[in-house]
Amino acid sequence: MINEFIITQTNPKTGFIDLGMGNPDLRLLPLDALRQSAEAYFASGDTRPLQYGAEQGDGYFRAALADCLSQAYRNSVNPKHLFVTSGASSALDLLCALYTHPGEVIFVEEPTYFLALRIFNDHGLKIIPISMDEHGLCLEELDELLAQYRPKFLYTIPTFQNPSGRTLTQARREELIARARRDNFFIVADEVYQLLPYSRTLPVPFAAFAQDVEQVISVNSFSKILAPGLRLGWIQAHEHIIERLAGSGFLDSGGGMNPFTSALVRELIESGGLEANIAHLRREYARRLKVMDAALRLHLPGAEYAIPQGGFFFWIHLPGVDTEKLRENAKQYKVDFRQGELFSSRRAMREYIRLSFAYYAPEEIEEGVKRLGACLRC
Ligand SMILES: Cc1ncc(COP(=O)(O)O)c(C=O)c1O
Repeated sequence: MINEFIITQTNPKTGFIDLGMGNPDLRLLPLDALRQSAEAYFASGDTRPLQYGAEQGDGYFRAALADCLSQAYRNSVNPKHLFVTSGASSALDLLCALYTHPGEVIFVEEPTYFLALRIFNDHGLKIIPISMDEHGLCLEELDELLAQYRPKFLYTIPTFQNPSGRTLTQARREELIARARRDNFFIVADEVYQLLPYSRTLPVPFAAFAQDVEQVISVNSFSKILAPGLRLGWIQAHEHIIERLAGSGFLDSGGGMNPFTSALVRELIESGGLEANIAHLRREYARRLKVMDAALRLHLPGAEYAIPQGGFFFWIHLPGVDTEKLRENAKQYKVDFRQGELFSSRRAMREYIRLSFAYYAPEEIEEGVKRLGACLRC
């Protein structure tokens, strides 16, 4: 449907509280910090970022990003192993375009990020789900499936998974990498929530293995730590993968992705603005997470969930509830959520819902959960 005057992708209806929104709050998007970075960039008089860019992405930007990631991961990141993308979605799409053919098998977690499923479907891939428990992907099930299939890659969101909030343990990460090397499939690790922990120390990211192990590809983005509208992200990978990506026809024709935005974000990284923004987000989201947890205990006493330790989401089991029907009824209460089935490649998870604490302020979160509680009781 063509709508001429719409700016944002999702727009909750007036008066509605859509707790399903996985987007950052508009009030948390860093206009002032970006204004300062833009002013510094424009004052430089450098017109090169307005030219077609280097295929791998702006080298100065990659150097700044590598420094910043080395500190955050406490592990040396080499700019040679970084490749600039227009966000995690474009990274997934490009990886599929270059490394898969229609009909080939990939493995995903069950549940998984529903819009990644859309990208994989666009490429005609055969999607095989693997169950998770509270420690992430189940390796026994992976082993059974590896005996039957030769997947091109396994797509995982290892840290604060969307939607389940779970984090894959260190031991399982290492076992997974051992299997990928043995059976020669890629691990495409979508690590977009890695830099948003609120209350725990994290296992080593897959990014830390990606430079040396050809089978490990880490995908990341500025969408959750700065602003989705920048459409800026990166891949960290082995040099063979970087060469293949940078050598694609798409980049030969159009040049590297987002050189202009990269120049602005480079300023922001070098001035310490990114780090400050991440610290601010972590404080703010930690506060909202607590508010949502308290509201759930009060208004949805039958809900079963693990308290997330980072990221954006609560993954909630409502035993005996058909969440498709609940969503229909929720319209009357002017509240919305994402029903579990969306995140299931086998159309299961019908008793689950995903709520996000990123989009709304604490009072709105409380009100939204209260409305949901009233709807559940009706
Ligand atoms: C796991 C995951 N991957 C990718 C994305 C999209 O990232 P980007 O905006 O960088 O394309 C999201 C956004 O919700 C996400 O949750």
